[in-house]
Amino acid sequence: MAQQRVAVVDFGGQYTHLIARRCRELGVYSEIVPFTKPLKEVLSGDYETLGIILSGSPRGVNEPNAPRIPAEDLLNVSVPVLGICYGHQLIALAFNGELEHGTMMEYGNTYVRVIERDVLFMDVPEQFVAWMSHMDSVVKQPPNFKVLALTERGAVAAMRHAERPIYGVQFHPEVRHTQMGKMILKRFLVDVCGFRCDWRPMDRVEELSREIAATVPPDEHVICAVSGGVDSVTTAVLLNRTLGERLHCIFVDHGLMRKGEPEQVVSTLRRMGIANLVFVRAEERFLSRLRGVKDPEKKRKIIGEEFAKIFEEEAAKIPRASWLAQGTIYPDRIESGSAGSGSALIKTHHNVAGLPAGLRLKLVEPLKDLYKDEVREVARKLGIPEEIVSRHPFPGPGLAVRIIGEVTEEKLRICRDANAIVEEEFKKAGVYDKVWQAFAVVTDSSWTGVMGDARAEGYVVIVRAVESEDGMTADWYRPDMDLLDRISKRIVNEVGNVTMVAYATTPKPPSTIEAC
Ligand code: XMP
Repeated sequence: MAQQRVAVVDFGGQYTHLIARRCRELGVYSEIVPFTKPLKEVLSGDYETLGIILSGSPRGVNEPNAPRIPAEDLLNVSVPVLGICYGHQLIALAFNGELEHGTMMEYGNTYVRVIERDVLFMDVPEQFVAWMSHMDSVVKQPPNFKVLALTERGAVAAMRHAERPIYGVQFHPEVRHTQMGKMILKRFLVDVCGFRCDWRPMDRVEELSREIAATVPPDEHVICAVSGGVDSVTTAVLLNRTLGERLHCIFVDHGLMRKGEPEQVVSTLRRMGIANLVFVRAEERFLSRLRGVKDPEKKRKIIGEEFAKIFEEEAAKIPRASWLAQGTIYPDRIESGSAGSGSALIKTHHNVAGLPAGLRLKLVEPLKDLYKDEVREVARKLGIPEEIVSRHPFPGPGLAVRIIGEVTEEKLRICRDANAIVEEEFKKAGVYDKVWQAFAVVTDSSWTGVMGDARAEGYVVIVRAVESEDGMTADWYRPDMDLLDRISKRIVNEVGNVTMVAYATTPKPPSTIEAC
Protein backbone atom coordinates (compact mmCIF):
# COMPACT_ATOMS: atom_id res chain seq x y z
CA MET A 1 0.00 0.00 0.00
CA ALA A 2 1.46 3.38 -0.99
CA GLN A 3 2.36 5.80 1.77
CA GLN A 4 -0.30 8.49 2.22
CA ARG A 5 1.04 12.01 2.06
CA VAL A 6 0.00 15.63 2.20
CA ALA A 7 2.08 17.92 0.00
CA VAL A 8 2.86 21.36 1.42
CA VAL A 9 3.67 23.72 -1.44
CA ASP A 10 6.48 26.09 -0.47
CA PHE A 11 6.45 29.71 -1.62
CA GLY A 12 9.30 30.73 0.70
CA GLY A 13 7.18 31.58 3.75
CA GLN A 14 8.53 31.28 7.27
CA TYR A 15 5.80 28.93 8.49
CA THR A 16 6.03 26.28 5.78
CA HIS A 17 8.02 23.90 7.98
CA LEU A 18 5.67 24.43 10.86
CA ILE A 19 2.71 23.40 8.69
CA ALA A 20 4.56 20.25 7.60
CA ARG A 21 5.49 19.42 11.19
CA ARG A 22 1.96 19.92 12.50
CA CYS A 23 0.62 17.51 9.88
CA ARG A 24 3.14 14.91 10.99
CA GLU A 25 2.24 15.49 14.64
CA LEU A 26 -1.31 14.70 13.60
CA GLY A 27 -0.13 11.39 12.13
CA VAL A 28 -0.12 12.48 8.49
CA TYR A 29 3.14 12.18 6.58
CA SER A 30 3.92 15.52 4.94
CA GLU A 31 6.47 16.70 2.44
CA ILE A 32 7.41 20.17 1.31
CA VAL A 33 7.41 20.61 -2.46
CA PRO A 34 8.62 23.67 -4.37
CA PHE A 35 5.94 25.82 -6.03
CA THR A 36 7.79 25.36 -9.31
CA LYS A 37 6.81 21.70 -9.45
CA PRO A 38 3.60 21.33 -11.47
CA LEU A 39 0.74 20.06 -9.29
CA LYS A 40 0.18 17.21 -11.74
CA GLU A 41 3.68 15.92 -10.93
CA VAL A 42 3.12 16.44 -7.22
CA LEU A 43 0.11 14.16 -7.46
CA SER A 44 1.84 11.46 -9.47
CA GLY A 45 4.78 9.48 -8.11
CA ASP A 46 5.28 6.96 -5.34
CA TYR A 47 2.96 8.48 -2.75
CA GLU A 48 -0.76 8.51 -2.40
CA THR A 49 -1.07 12.30 -2.15
CA LEU A 50 -4.50 12.93 -0.65
CA GLY A 51 -4.30 16.67 -0.10
CA ILE A 52 -2.40 19.83 -0.96
CA ILE A 53 -1.65 22.74 1.32
CA LEU A 54 -0.54 26.02 -0.21
CA SER A 55 1.61 27.85 2.33
CA GLY A 56 2.73 31.44 2.94
CA SER A 57 5.21 33.70 1.20
CA PRO A 58 7.18 36.82 2.07
CA ARG A 59 5.91 38.37 -1.21
CA GLY A 60 2.60 39.98 -2.06
CA VAL A 61 0.38 38.06 -4.53
CA ASN A 62 0.24 40.97 -6.93
CA GLU A 63 3.94 41.81 -6.86
CA PRO A 64 5.71 41.29 -10.16
CA ASN A 65 7.57 37.93 -10.05
CA ALA A 66 5.60 36.78 -7.01
CA PRO A 67 5.63 32.97 -6.83
CA ARG A 68 2.48 31.61 -8.51
CA ILE A 69 0.74 28.44 -9.50
CA PRO A 70 -1.09 28.68 -12.83
CA ALA A 71 -4.83 29.15 -12.20
CA GLU A 72 -5.72 26.23 -14.49
CA ASP A 73 -3.55 23.89 -12.38
CA LEU A 74 -5.55 24.87 -9.30
CA LEU A 75 -8.78 24.46 -11.21
CA ASN A 76 -7.84 20.98 -12.37
CA VAL A 77 -6.46 19.57 -9.15
CA SER A 78 -8.19 16.35 -8.15
CA VAL A 79 -7.57 16.34 -4.38
CA PRO A 80 -8.63 18.79 -1.63
CA VAL A 81 -6.66 22.02 -1.37
CA LEU A 82 -6.15 24.26 1.65
CA GLY A 83 -4.57 27.68 1.09
CA ILE A 84 -3.03 29.29 4.15
CA CYS A 85 -2.35 33.07 4.15
CA TYR A 86 -0.59 33.61 0.80
CA GLY A 87 -2.12 30.32 -0.36
CA HIS A 88 -5.58 31.68 0.52
CA GLN A 89 -4.87 34.80 -1.53
CA LEU A 90 -3.59 32.74 -4.47
CA ILE A 91 -6.85 30.80 -4.53
CA ALA A 92 -8.80 34.07 -4.43
CA LEU A 93 -6.73 35.41 -7.31
CA ALA A 94 -7.03 32.22 -9.39
CA PHE A 95 -10.83 32.12 -9.03
CA ASN A 96 -11.34 35.88 -9.59
CA GLY A 97 -11.92 37.13 -6.09
CA GLU A 98 -11.04 40.69 -5.06
CA LEU A 99 -7.83 41.51 -3.19
CA GLU A 100 -6.56 44.69 -1.63
CA HIS A 101 -3.05 45.62 -0.63
CA GLY A 102 -2.20 47.42 2.61
CA THR A 103 -5.71 48.48 3.63
CA MET A 104 -6.74 45.70 5.97
CA MET A 105 -3.46 44.24 7.15
CA GLU A 106 -3.36 42.42 10.50
CA TYR A 107 -0.49 41.07 12.58
CA GLY A 108 -0.34 38.86 15.65
CA ASN A 109 -3.34 37.72 17.67
CA THR A 110 -6.66 38.84 16.23
CA TYR A 111 -10.25 37.67 16.43
CA VAL A 112 -11.93 35.68 13.70
CA ARG A 113 -15.71 35.45 13.53
CA VAL A 114 -17.27 32.28 12.14
CA ILE A 115 -20.27 32.95 9.96
CA GLU A 116 -20.79 29.52 8.47
CA ARG A 117 -20.05 26.46 10.55
CA ASP A 118 -18.30 24.36 7.96
CA VAL A 119 -16.44 21.14 8.82
CA LEU A 120 -13.17 23.06 9.41
CA PHE A 121 -14.78 25.04 12.22
CA MET A 122 -16.63 22.23 14.01
CA ASP A 123 -14.53 22.60 17.15
CA VAL A 124 -14.01 26.35 17.47
CA PRO A 125 -16.24 28.89 19.23
CA GLU A 126 -18.13 31.44 17.15
CA GLN A 127 -15.35 33.91 17.76
CA PHE A 128 -11.78 32.66 18.22
CA VAL A 129 -8.24 34.00 18.45
CA ALA A 130 -6.14 33.46 15.34
CA TRP A 131 -2.60 34.39 14.37
CA MET A 132 -2.40 36.70 11.36
CA SER A 133 0.44 38.20 9.39
CA HIS A 134 -0.74 39.71 6.13
CA MET A 135 -0.46 42.86 4.03
CA ASP A 136 -2.85 41.68 1.30
CA SER A 137 -6.43 40.76 2.08
CA VAL A 138 -9.24 39.01 0.26
CA VAL A 139 -11.99 41.64 0.38
CA LYS A 140 -14.50 39.79 -1.78
CA GLN A 141 -14.67 36.02 -2.22
CA PRO A 142 -14.55 34.65 -5.79
CA PRO A 143 -17.86 33.75 -7.49
CA ASN A 144 -19.01 30.30 -6.42
CA PHE A 145 -17.12 30.57 -3.10
CA LYS A 146 -18.75 30.81 0.33
CA VAL A 147 -17.37 33.00 3.10
CA LEU A 148 -16.95 30.92 6.25
CA ALA A 149 -15.39 33.48 8.57
CA LEU A 150 -14.40 37.14 8.72
CA THR A 151 -11.33 38.87 10.14
CA GLU A 152 -11.60 41.60 12.76
CA ARG A 153 -11.28 44.19 9.99
CA GLY A 154 -13.94 42.56 7.83
CA ALA A 155 -11.80 40.76 5.27
CA VAL A 156 -12.42 37.13 4.29
CA ALA A 157 -10.76 35.03 7.03
CA ALA A 158 -11.91 31.71 5.57
CA MET A 159 -13.74 30.58 2.45
CA ARG A 160 -14.52 27.47 0.49
CA HIS A 161 -15.60 26.58 -3.00
CA ALA A 162 -19.35 25.85 -3.10
CA GLU A 163 -19.00 22.40 -4.66
CA ARG A 164 -15.37 21.40 -4.51
CA PRO A 165 -13.06 20.81 -1.51
CA ILE A 166 -11.01 23.96 -2.05
CA TYR A 167 -10.47 25.99 1.11
CA GLY A 168 -8.63 29.17 2.00
CA VAL A 169 -7.80 30.60 5.42
CA GLN A 170 -6.14 33.96 5.96
CA PHE A 171 -4.87 33.08 9.45
CA HIS A 172 -2.23 30.51 10.46
CA PRO A 173 -3.77 27.36 11.99
CA GLU A 174 -0.25 25.90 12.38
CA VAL A 175 0.84 28.61 14.85
CA ARG A 176 0.20 27.76 18.50
CA HIS A 177 -1.43 31.14 19.17
CA THR A 178 -4.36 30.17 16.96
CA GLN A 179 -7.06 28.75 19.21
CA MET A 180 -7.82 25.13 18.17
CA GLY A 181 -5.55 25.69 15.14
CA LYS A 182 -4.38 22.10 15.19
CA MET A 183 -7.99 20.87 15.24
CA ILE A 184 -8.78 23.03 12.21
CA LEU A 185 -5.86 21.39 10.39
CA LYS A 186 -6.98 17.97 11.59
CA ARG A 187 -10.51 18.53 10.28
CA PHE A 188 -9.05 19.35 6.88
CA LEU A 189 -6.75 16.31 6.87
CA VAL A 190 -9.25 13.80 8.24
CA ASP A 191 -12.70 15.00 7.26
CA VAL A 192 -11.91 16.72 3.98
CA CYS A 193 -8.95 14.69 2.65
CA GLY A 194 -9.68 11.34 4.34
CA PHE A 195 -6.29 10.65 5.89
CA ARG A 196 -5.94 7.69 8.26
CA CYS A 197 -3.58 9.61 10.63
CA ASP A 198 -1.56 6.49 11.36
CA TRP A 199 1.93 7.70 10.47
CA ARG A 200 4.38 7.53 13.39
CA PRO A 201 8.12 8.19 13.02
CA MET A 202 9.05 5.28 15.26
CA ASP A 203 7.07 2.87 13.11
CA ARG A 204 9.52 3.79 10.43
CA VAL A 205 12.39 1.77 11.92
CA GLU A 206 11.35 -1.39 10.07
CA GLU A 207 10.52 0.55 6.93
CA LEU A 208 13.87 2.39 7.00
CA SER A 209 15.70 -0.90 7.53
CA ARG A 210 13.91 -2.39 4.53
CA GLU A 211 14.84 0.68 2.47
CA ILE A 212 18.51 0.30 3.42
CA ALA A 213 18.45 -3.39 2.51
CA ALA A 214 16.84 -2.57 -0.84
CA THR A 215 19.33 0.24 -1.55
CA VAL A 216 22.66 -1.40 -0.66
CA PRO A 217 23.31 -4.62 -2.60
CA PRO A 218 24.26 -7.64 -0.43
CA ASP A 219 27.99 -7.70 -1.25
CA GLU A 220 28.66 -3.94 -0.95
CA HIS A 221 30.06 -2.11 2.08
CA VAL A 222 29.09 1.26 3.56
CA ILE A 223 31.20 3.91 5.24
CA CYS A 224 29.43 6.07 7.79
CA ALA A 225 30.70 9.40 9.07
CA VAL A 226 29.75 9.68 12.74
CA SER A 227 29.90 13.06 14.44
CA GLY A 228 28.47 12.04 17.77
CA GLY A 229 25.17 13.87 17.40
CA VAL A 230 21.89 12.01 17.56
CA ASP A 231 21.48 12.12 13.77
CA SER A 232 24.70 10.37 12.87
CA VAL A 233 24.59 7.91 15.78
CA THR A 234 21.02 6.95 14.81
CA THR A 235 22.09 6.54 11.18
CA ALA A 236 24.96 4.26 12.24
CA VAL A 237 22.83 2.13 14.57
CA LEU A 238 20.08 1.82 11.98
CA LEU A 239 22.54 0.74 9.29
CA ASN A 240 24.19 -1.67 11.71
CA ARG A 241 20.90 -3.56 12.14
CA THR A 242 20.80 -4.34 8.44
CA LEU A 243 24.45 -4.37 7.42
CA GLY A 244 26.42 -5.56 10.48
CA GLU A 245 30.01 -6.24 9.40
CA ARG A 246 29.43 -4.42 6.12
CA LEU A 247 29.20 -1.12 7.99
CA HIS A 248 32.38 0.85 8.72
CA CYS A 249 32.04 3.89 10.96
CA ILE A 250 34.59 6.67 10.93
CA PHE A 251 34.67 9.15 13.79
CA VAL A 252 37.03 12.10 13.32
CA ASP A 253 37.87 14.03 16.46
CA HIS A 254 38.64 17.48 15.08
CA GLY A 255 39.44 18.82 18.53
CA LEU A 256 36.35 21.04 18.44
CA MET A 257 34.02 18.69 20.32
CA ARG A 258 32.23 19.27 23.59
CA LYS A 259 33.88 18.18 26.83
CA GLY A 260 34.06 14.38 27.10
CA GLU A 261 32.18 13.92 23.82
CA PRO A 262 34.68 11.83 21.79
CA GLU A 263 35.02 9.23 24.54
CA GLN A 264 31.26 9.11 25.12
CA VAL A 265 30.48 8.59 21.44
CA VAL A 266 33.03 5.86 20.93
CA SER A 267 31.92 3.93 24.00
CA THR A 268 28.23 4.25 22.99
CA LEU A 269 28.87 2.99 19.47
CA ARG A 270 30.82 0.04 20.85
CA ARG A 271 28.00 -0.74 23.29
CA MET A 272 25.47 -0.55 20.47
CA GLY A 273 27.35 -3.35 18.71
CA ILE A 274 29.13 -1.42 15.93
CA ALA A 275 31.92 -3.82 15.00
CA ASN A 276 34.01 -1.69 12.62
CA LEU A 277 34.83 1.67 14.13
CA VAL A 278 37.79 3.84 13.18
CA PHE A 279 38.56 6.62 15.66
CA VAL A 280 40.80 9.31 14.14
CA ARG A 281 42.48 11.81 16.48
CA ALA A 282 43.09 14.84 14.27
CA GLU A 283 43.05 17.80 16.65
CA GLU A 284 46.45 19.10 15.57
CA ARG A 285 45.63 18.91 11.86
CA PHE A 286 42.52 21.05 12.26
CA LEU A 287 43.92 23.55 14.73
CA SER A 288 47.04 24.22 12.73
CA ARG A 289 45.00 24.94 9.59
CA LEU A 290 42.68 27.24 11.55
CA ARG A 291 45.55 29.30 12.96
CA GLY A 292 45.20 32.98 12.01
CA VAL A 293 41.81 32.47 10.27
CA LYS A 294 39.08 34.86 11.44
CA ASP A 295 36.43 34.76 8.73
CA PRO A 296 33.53 32.48 9.76
CA GLU A 297 32.83 31.01 6.33
CA LYS A 298 36.58 30.39 5.81
CA LYS A 299 36.70 28.54 9.11
CA ARG A 300 33.76 26.38 8.07
CA LYS A 301 35.34 25.71 4.65
CA ILE A 302 38.68 24.69 6.19
CA ILE A 303 36.99 22.34 8.63
CA GLY A 304 34.87 20.88 5.84
CA GLU A 305 37.89 20.41 3.57
CA GLU A 306 40.11 18.92 6.24
CA PHE A 307 37.33 16.63 7.32
CA ALA A 308 36.85 15.49 3.74
CA LYS A 309 40.58 14.83 3.33
CA ILE A 310 40.87 12.76 6.48
CA PHE A 311 37.71 10.96 5.62
CA GLU A 312 39.03 10.15 2.17
CA GLU A 313 42.32 8.85 3.57
CA GLU A 314 40.51 6.57 5.98
CA ALA A 315 37.89 5.47 3.48
CA ALA A 316 40.62 4.48 1.01
CA LYS A 317 41.83 1.93 3.57
CA ILE A 318 38.45 0.18 3.59
CA PRO A 319 38.16 -2.26 0.70
CA ARG A 320 34.92 -2.79 -1.19
CA ALA A 321 33.23 0.30 0.25
CA SER A 322 31.05 1.85 -2.40
CA TRP A 323 28.53 3.72 -0.25
CA LEU A 324 28.69 6.71 2.07
CA ALA A 325 26.08 7.06 4.81
CA GLN A 326 25.30 10.43 6.33
CA GLY A 327 23.01 11.61 9.12
CA THR A 328 21.39 14.31 6.99
CA ILE A 329 17.92 15.23 8.25
CA TYR A 330 15.08 17.10 6.55
CA PRO A 331 15.84 20.68 7.70
CA ASP A 332 19.54 20.26 6.68
CA ARG A 333 18.41 19.72 3.11
CA ILE A 334 16.02 22.65 3.17
CA GLU A 335 18.50 25.14 4.77
CA SER A 336 21.26 24.10 2.40
CA GLY A 337 19.01 24.67 -0.59
CA SER A 338 18.99 21.03 -1.75
CA ALA A 339 15.26 20.60 -1.23
CA GLY A 340 12.19 22.83 -1.14
CA SER A 341 12.19 26.27 -2.73
CA GLY A 342 15.94 26.84 -2.83
CA SER A 343 15.89 29.59 -0.21
CA ALA A 344 19.06 31.61 0.40
CA LEU A 345 22.15 29.84 1.72
CA ILE A 346 22.80 31.28 5.18
CA LYS A 347 25.66 29.08 6.33
CA THR A 348 27.50 26.16 4.83
CA HIS A 349 26.17 23.19 6.77
CA HIS A 350 28.92 20.94 5.63
CA ASN A 351 27.31 17.60 6.26
CA VAL A 352 25.27 18.44 3.18
CA ALA A 353 27.39 20.87 1.22
CA GLY A 354 30.87 19.41 1.55
CA LEU A 355 30.94 15.78 0.53
CA PRO A 356 34.46 14.50 -0.11
CA ALA A 357 34.71 15.29 -3.82
CA GLY A 358 37.31 12.65 -4.66
CA LEU A 359 35.29 9.82 -3.22
CA ARG A 360 33.14 8.13 -5.82
CA LEU A 361 30.66 6.85 -3.32
CA LYS A 362 26.94 6.48 -3.64
CA LEU A 363 24.98 8.21 -0.93
CA VAL A 364 22.66 6.62 1.62
CA GLU A 365 20.83 9.02 3.97
CA PRO A 366 18.13 7.07 5.83
CA LEU A 367 16.96 10.00 7.98
CA LYS A 368 16.74 12.53 5.18
CA ASP A 369 12.97 12.98 5.48
CA LEU A 370 12.73 13.27 9.25
CA TYR A 371 12.68 16.23 11.61
CA LYS A 372 14.89 16.28 14.70
CA ASP A 373 12.26 15.19 17.20
CA GLU A 374 11.23 12.39 14.85
CA VAL A 375 14.87 11.23 14.70
CA ARG A 376 14.88 11.23 18.50
CA GLU A 377 11.83 8.96 18.53
CA VAL A 378 13.53 6.56 16.13
CA ALA A 379 16.70 6.68 18.27
CA ARG A 380 14.77 5.76 21.42
CA LYS A 381 13.10 2.90 19.62
CA LEU A 382 16.57 1.65 18.64
CA GLY A 383 17.72 1.75 22.27
CA ILE A 384 20.26 4.54 21.90
CA PRO A 385 21.08 5.93 25.38
CA GLU A 386 19.03 8.94 26.48
CA GLU A 387 22.24 10.93 27.04
CA ILE A 388 22.80 10.99 23.29
CA VAL A 389 19.14 11.08 22.26
CA SER A 390 18.26 14.21 24.19
CA ARG A 391 21.61 15.97 23.93
CA HIS A 392 21.24 19.35 22.30
CA PRO A 393 22.09 19.58 18.59
CA PHE A 394 25.72 20.39 17.92
CA PRO A 395 27.04 21.80 14.65
CA GLY A 396 29.43 19.82 12.46
CA PRO A 397 32.23 22.45 12.71
CA GLY A 398 31.87 22.18 16.49
CA LEU A 399 33.10 24.83 18.88
CA ALA A 400 34.72 26.73 15.97
CA VAL A 401 31.33 28.32 15.29
CA ARG A 402 31.07 29.32 18.96
CA ILE A 403 34.39 31.14 18.87
CA ILE A 404 34.26 34.55 17.23
CA GLY A 405 37.43 35.36 15.28
CA GLU A 406 40.52 33.14 15.39
CA VAL A 407 40.27 29.72 17.06
CA THR A 408 43.20 29.74 19.49
CA GLU A 409 43.92 27.03 22.03
CA GLU A 410 43.08 29.43 24.87
CA LYS A 411 39.71 30.42 23.36
CA LEU A 412 38.96 26.77 22.67
CA ARG A 413 39.68 25.83 26.28
CA ILE A 414 37.41 28.63 27.53
CA CYS A 415 34.69 27.69 25.07
CA ARG A 416 34.74 23.99 25.98
CA ASP A 417 34.71 24.62 29.74
CA ALA A 418 32.09 27.37 29.57
CA ASN A 419 29.84 25.20 27.37
CA ALA A 420 30.10 22.36 29.88
CA ILE A 421 29.06 24.70 32.71
CA VAL A 422 26.06 26.00 30.77
CA GLU A 423 24.89 22.46 29.96
CA GLU A 424 25.44 21.28 33.51
CA GLU A 425 23.54 24.18 35.08
CA PHE A 426 20.63 23.87 32.65
CA LYS A 427 20.40 20.17 33.54
CA LYS A 428 20.60 20.83 37.28
CA ALA A 429 17.84 23.43 37.00
CA GLY A 430 15.67 20.91 35.12
CA VAL A 431 15.34 23.13 32.03
CA TYR A 432 17.83 21.43 29.68
CA ASP A 433 15.05 19.61 27.82
CA LYS A 434 12.93 22.75 27.58
CA VAL A 435 15.37 24.48 25.26
CA TRP A 436 16.59 23.61 21.80
CA GLN A 437 20.17 24.58 22.62
CA ALA A 438 22.03 26.28 25.48
CA PHE A 439 25.68 27.12 25.03
CA ALA A 440 28.49 29.62 25.47
CA VAL A 441 30.25 31.69 22.84
CA VAL A 442 33.74 33.16 23.25
CA THR A 443 34.00 36.58 21.64
CA ASP A 444 37.04 38.32 20.27
CA SER A 445 36.59 41.18 22.72
CA SER A 446 38.10 41.80 26.10
CA TRP A 447 36.67 43.49 29.18
CA THR A 448 38.69 45.12 31.90
CA GLY A 449 38.29 43.34 35.19
CA VAL A 450 39.54 43.56 38.71
CA MET A 451 40.59 40.29 40.22
CA GLY A 452 41.96 40.32 43.72
CA ASP A 453 43.21 43.89 43.81
CA ALA A 454 44.79 43.84 40.41
CA ARG A 455 43.61 44.94 37.00
CA ALA A 456 42.79 41.98 34.76
CA GLU A 457 42.02 41.75 31.09
CA GLY A 458 39.82 38.83 30.08
CA TYR A 459 37.45 37.55 27.40
CA VAL A 460 33.78 38.39 27.04
CA VAL A 461 31.71 35.20 26.98
CA ILE A 462 28.12 35.21 25.70
CA VAL A 463 25.63 32.65 26.95
CA ARG A 464 22.88 31.79 24.45
CA ALA A 465 19.85 29.62 25.00
CA VAL A 466 17.06 29.30 22.46
CA GLU A 467 13.67 27.68 22.16
CA SER A 468 12.91 26.26 18.75
CA GLU A 469 10.94 23.50 17.08
CA ASP A 470 13.41 22.65 14.35
CA GLY A 471 16.26 25.16 14.39
CA MET A 472 14.85 27.05 11.40
CA THR A 473 13.48 29.85 13.57
CA ALA A 474 14.16 30.37 17.26
CA ASP A 475 13.38 32.65 20.15
CA TRP A 476 15.75 33.44 22.99
CA TYR A 477 14.97 31.57 26.18
CA ARG A 478 13.92 33.69 29.18
CA PRO A 479 15.99 32.10 31.94
CA ASP A 480 15.50 32.24 35.65
CA MET A 481 17.79 35.00 37.00
CA ASP A 482 19.31 32.74 39.65
CA LEU A 483 20.25 30.22 36.97
CA LEU A 484 21.89 32.96 34.94
CA ASP A 485 23.69 34.21 38.03
CA ARG A 486 25.05 30.74 38.84
CA ILE A 487 26.25 30.24 35.26
CA SER A 488 27.87 33.65 35.15
CA LYS A 489 29.70 33.22 38.46
CA ARG A 490 30.89 29.72 37.62
CA ILE A 491 32.25 30.74 34.23
CA VAL A 492 34.24 33.64 35.70
CA ASN A 493 35.45 31.71 38.75
CA GLU A 494 36.12 28.29 37.28
CA VAL A 495 37.12 28.82 33.66
CA GLY A 496 39.66 31.60 34.08
CA ASN A 497 40.59 34.47 31.77
CA VAL A 498 36.93 35.58 31.46
CA THR A 499 35.96 38.96 32.90
CA MET A 500 32.42 39.38 31.54
CA VAL A 501 29.50 37.07 30.88
CA ALA A 502 26.61 38.41 28.77
CA TYR A 503 23.31 36.83 27.67
CA ALA A 504 22.10 36.82 24.05
CA THR A 505 18.59 38.19 23.50
CA THR A 506 18.09 38.21 19.72
CA PRO A 507 15.81 35.63 18.05
CA LYS A 508 16.40 33.88 14.73
CA PRO A 509 15.73 35.71 12.49
CA PRO A 510 17.37 38.21 12.44
CA SER A 511 20.25 36.38 14.20
CA THR A 512 21.28 32.82 13.54
CA ILE A 513 21.49 30.40 16.44
CA GLU A 514 25.23 29.74 16.40
CA ALA A 515 27.58 32.73 16.50
CA CYS A 516 29.32 32.19 13.19
P1 XMP B 1 22.08 28.41 12.66
O1 XMP B 1 23.31 28.86 13.39
O2 XMP B 1 22.31 28.26 11.18
O3 XMP B 1 21.83 26.95 13.20
O4 XMP B 1 20.87 29.20 12.99
C1 XMP B 1 20.66 26.21 13.01
C2 XMP B 1 20.86 24.84 13.62
O5 XMP B 1 21.85 24.11 12.85
C3 XMP B 1 22.99 23.81 13.64
N1 XMP B 1 24.15 24.10 12.80
C4 XMP B 1 24.84 23.18 12.11
N2 XMP B 1 24.68 21.84 12.02
N3 XMP B 1 26.55 21.72 10.56
C5 XMP B 1 25.57 21.12 11.25
O6 XMP B 1 25.45 19.90 11.17
C6 XMP B 1 26.77 23.05 10.60
O7 XMP B 1 27.67 23.58 9.97
C7 XMP B 1 25.86 23.81 11.42
N4 XMP B 1 25.75 25.14 11.69
C8 XMP B 1 24.68 25.29 12.54
C9 XMP B 1 22.92 24.71 14.85
O8 XMP B 1 23.58 24.14 15.96
C10 XMP B 1 21.44 24.89 15.04
O9 XMP B 1 20.86 23.84 15.77
